[in-house]
Amino acid sequence: MNTSSWKKWMTRWISGLLLVVAGSVALANQGGVKLDHAPIDPSDKASLQRGAQHFMNYCLTCHGAQYVRFDLLTRIGLTEDQVKKNLILTDAKIADYMTVVLNPKDAKAWFGVPPPDLSVEARVRGADWLYTYLRSFYRDDQRDSGWNNLVFRQVAMPHVLYELQGEQDIKAEEGKPGEHHVATLVLTKPGKLSPKEYDQFTADLVNYLVFMAEPDQQTRIRIGYGVMVFLALAFVITRALKHEYWKDIH
Ligand code: HEC
Repeated sequence: MNTSSWKKWMTRWISGLLLVVAGSVALANQGGVKLDHAPIDPSDKASLQRGAQHFMNYCLTCHGAQYVRFDLLTRIGLTEDQVKKNLILTDAKIADYMTVVLNPKDAKAWFGVPPPDLSVEARVRGADWLYTYLRSFYRDDQRDSGWNNLVFRQVAMPHVLYELQGEQDIKAEEGKPGEHHVATLVLTKPGKLSPKEYDQFTADLVNYLVFMAEPDQQTRIRIGYGVMVFLALAFVITRALKHEYWKDIH
């Protein structure tokens, strides 16, 4: 390798490495907050059903999921009747898309920002971010809504689940100079659920959001295993055949 191509090679590697480092720093940066691991299980149908119910009760008023039809819910073990009776809270039909109840113009006027569609939100933000976000609202008198959020600073969404979680306050906003923010949230007014129950509630909700964003994930995993088994069998058969064909030649 001559000197100039060596230099080019090195520059490429170093810039590549820098990109990777910058990328991970950007990912890790959630306003200096460490994300909690979302304890979700996409194969747990009971959890998905609870999550779907929470989503319909607490989120669909402001957020739509306009790329998803209600009949998707029959894939998490619910019958059409159950979906119609318990999960469709408007006069929508089972084959309709989950459109938002709130008029986007009103939403813009009330919140300043229209609540985004949540069909594929879990793919955009990831399960851990959502799980942490829904548990990180705190009281902030400076905000119009009265709420702020540790992972989404100055968020326009009010804490719609505060009756369940209760109210949190932020403690010790600033760390020592040169150190990361050290901000912890303390529960000042308990809600209807205990902290453990609220964690379960949000985990179920996030489980459902992940399913909604990628409903075929479980099927793909099953097909993947099927393909592996098939390939393994095909390998054994092909090897046996090869032995058979070459037997007389060697
Ligand atoms: C009262 C209306 C309202 C309700 C009800 C509501 N939200 Fe929101 N939500 C908002 C608004 C407004 C925003 C936009 C916030 C911003 O950009 O500052 C938002 C933003 C979000 C975001 C961040 C979107 C992004 O990536 O930028 C998520 C996630 C979210 N909401 C989830 C939920 C979930 C889950 C529920 C149900 C528990 C819910 N919301 C219920 C109004 C609402």
